[in-house]
Amino acid sequence: MNVYDSARMAELLAPLGYAPTEESGEADMVILNTCHIREKASEKVFSELGRLRADRRDRGATDVIVAVAGCVAQAEGAEIIRRAPDVDIVLGPQTYHRLPEMVARVTRARAEKTGQGTRQRGAGLLDTDFPAESKFDFLPTGGESPVSAFLAIQEGCDKFCTFCVVPYTRGAEFSRPVADIVAEARALVAGGAREITLLGQNVNAYHGEAADGSTWNLARLIRALADRVPELLRIRYTTSHPRDMDDDLIAAHGEVPQLMPFLHLPVQSGSDRILEAMNRQHGIDRYRRVIERLREARSDIALSSDFIVGFPGETARDFAATLDLVRETGFAMAYSFKYSVRPGTPAASMELQVPEAEKDARLAELQDLLNQQQRDFNRASLGRVVPVLLEKPGRREGQLVGKTPHAQAVHIDGEHRIGDVVDVRIVDLGRFSLKGQIATIQDTEHLMEARA
Ligand code: 5AD
Ligand code: SF4
Repeated sequence: MNVYDSARMAELLAPLGYAPTEESGEADMVILNTCHIREKASEKVFSELGRLRADRRDRGATDVIVAVAGCVAQAEGAEIIRRAPDVDIVLGPQTYHRLPEMVARVTRARAEKTGQGTRQRGAGLLDTDFPAESKFDFLPTGGESPVSAFLAIQEGCDKFCTFCVVPYTRGAEFSRPVADIVAEARALVAGGAREITLLGQNVNAYHGEAADGSTWNLARLIRALADRVPELLRIRYTTSHPRDMDDDLIAAHGEVPQLMPFLHLPVQSGSDRILEAMNRQHGIDRYRRVIERLREARSDIALSSDFIVGFPGETARDFAATLDLVRETGFAMAYSFKYSVRPGTPAASMELQVPEAEKDARLAELQDLLNQQQRDFNRASLGRVVPVLLEKPGRREGQLVGKTPHAQAVHIDGEHRIGDVVDVRIVDLGRFSLKGQIATIQDTEHLMEARA
């Protein structure tokens, strides 16, 4: 979501003459777009602000505009303004459409001060509202898009898992209207996108208004995009909640060819007791059943998840249940984290916090198992021919990078058009990616027979 937000901020600032740069040392403006999901986020912001301050001093660039955006800004905006008086703009995730106006105000204030012969920095503008208007109504679209693009369809969360800050920093659940999403998808495809990942904190809780006033769920939206946006070859969505995997969405996995056979479905823990304490609003049986039905609908679906170890009260037995669930399910990849205390969330004040050393040990054990599963999953692709969507040039000359339907990165050598799907034989395994060769005619004929 932050990648999406950052891209939108860049688009909003383009009419003011700003373009993104890879080098913060060259920038006329620096925006730190921050995440607050785990601890140390705000400390990272203050240390990065310190680094930027030193850099500006070294190159004598005192007029660089500094902004802090995102969820740390939302949660700790006043503190940022107080502790870092050289920050010009602090804005939350729901107000970044106001960035051009804020930049104009900073620029104006600076010009006035320069006129008076002083060059002190502004007093720091703060905007962390949850405004009545939707930022999506103010974002520009058009221009070039990446082959694999993000499209935010839903934001915020009403689930209030007891460990999580998102409902507080991103606000209440909100779904964009269907027509806006279809229009944005068309614009992305016109700009070169061939794959769209539909984004939301709780993307499968999507309930957007259609033109006739009815409410659509995610499955209906996916079917409409597949039907109405001709050159859209691949659709994905993230992040979804097990509780919101409805029958319709599970069926769509079996029926919509553009919907890729890969699903990130975070379960967090394999213990019912811990899921209850987390307020996940479902048990392990429900998760198992959803996976079973997804596999019935689409036998080659690959799964990914998020896990938290060391949630307050997690015993060795609860943790063993998580390992069991992982072994039984088999994940193509997963993210795993140590529970991180977030002030103001219910879990922060729960008793029986797990000691740090125990969290470290559990995380290492879980990650060993997950890494093993990921290697096994990738190894199973060796020798196979898979359709790869070519996304961009690789780091080496003549190399291209693309993705399999299972979202594995593949490097290939050769001249091919970016944005095309080509049949690739997987010939080697790297640490984080696969290596492939464009399939021969024989390979492809073989594949056609197999697919038939
Ligand atoms: N501590 C550790 N991990 C967390 N996540 C969210 N909040 C916390 C926290 N307080 C993880 C969850 C979620 C992912 C985006 O981040 O696993 O799915
Ligand atoms: Fe956070 Fe996801 Fe739970 Fe919402 S559903 S509170 S975003 S972990």
